Amino acid sequence: MKDRYILAVETSCDETSVAVLKNERELLSNVIASQTESHRRFGGVVPEVASRHHVEVITDCFEDAMAEAGIQAADLTAVAVTYGPGLVGALLVGMAAAKAFAWANKLPLIPVNHMAGHLMAAGVQGVLNYPLLALLVSGGHTELVYVTEPGEYYIVGETRDDAVGEAYDKVGRVMGLSYPAGKEIDRLAHQGQDIYDFPRAMITDDNLEFSFSGLKSAFINLYHNAAQKGESLNKADLCASFQAAVLDVLLTKTKKALQAYPVKTLVVAGGVAANQGLRDRLAAEIQDVDLLIPPLRLCGDNAGMIALAAAAEYDKGHLAGLELNASPSLSFAPYKP
Ligand code: KG4
Ligand code: ZN
Repeated sequence: MKDRYILAVETSCDETSVAVLKNERELLSNVIASQTESHRRFGGVVPEVASRHHVEVITDCFEDAMAEAGIQAADLTAVAVTYGPGLVGALLVGMAAAKAFAWANKLPLIPVNHMAGHLMAAGVQGVLNYPLLALLVSGGHTELVYVTEPGEYYIVGETRDDAVGEAYDKVGRVMGLSYPAGKEIDRLAHQGQDIYDFPRAMITDDNLEFSFSGLKSAFINLYHNAAQKGESLNKADLCASFQAAVLDVLLTKTKKALQAYPVKTLVVAGGVAANQGLRDRLAAEIQDVDLLIPPLRLCGDNAGMIALAAAAEYDKGHLAGLELNASPSLSFAPYKP
């Protein structure tokens, strides 16, 4: 059979990325140009700055990804692109580039949901068995997703307010850590003790919903009250306590979801899936299903994951025309049995 090559483009937030996937799971290249340095001084991503950076580097990313893959445009089967969720201006840059490239080379265009990309990054390690359940934890999303078959994603639970990564970044900012703070909080957490007893919202509720804004507020209040009294709290203990509260909730809800949706495979993906504390607890506490977590290099935003998700869409004939528009708040449908 002829080899299939998909070129994928990802620009939904602050990483400009282009990748080439050969057949099901062989990533020939995955070029990632990160802009985190430019956003750090603002303590978060500035949308206009993000769009401008994407415009500056996207052409080089295309060229590098093709060169690294060692193929020509004529070898490609299709072009995939993230069309949401994300920052509208940032999405549009990648979409304009992907559409122009697809049109110039007479290639079909595959629209990909960014969260499907995070999830399908787990497929780089081997065959995924369906139905499967996924816990997706990123800077903008925290959701439990039931995947009935390749390309069919349904929400069974999600956060009512902040995403986990967002909570990490906000408490990190209060402590004076640089953006994004998740990795540093994870590192500090391993040096401290869970002594502050932060709230574990909705943990005993019989649903699959999450809420992290109360935890964030509790943390910020404790921190500011101590500062007003001239006390300084131990950062490692603060991080350990915060992380313990987050992980207790994530583990409890994921176990509840596995009871409600019996599957053989659990995928945990998204930027926060890089968290070592989360990985350790999943390994220790999730026993009866195959646990698949993408390798660290595919946890943060990258086009390789978009190509992996695009393969499933292509097999289903899910293509788009050049009129495809960005969908900043794109989300999976709720599951209706
Ligand atoms: O998936 P991602 O790269 O971008 C979005 O689609 O949002 O996720 C970025 C988020 C940031 O909030 C960052 O702080 C968090 O992932 N993150 C972590 C870790 N590494 C990255 N959070 C906790 N622990 C980590 N080790
Ligand atoms: Zn992401």
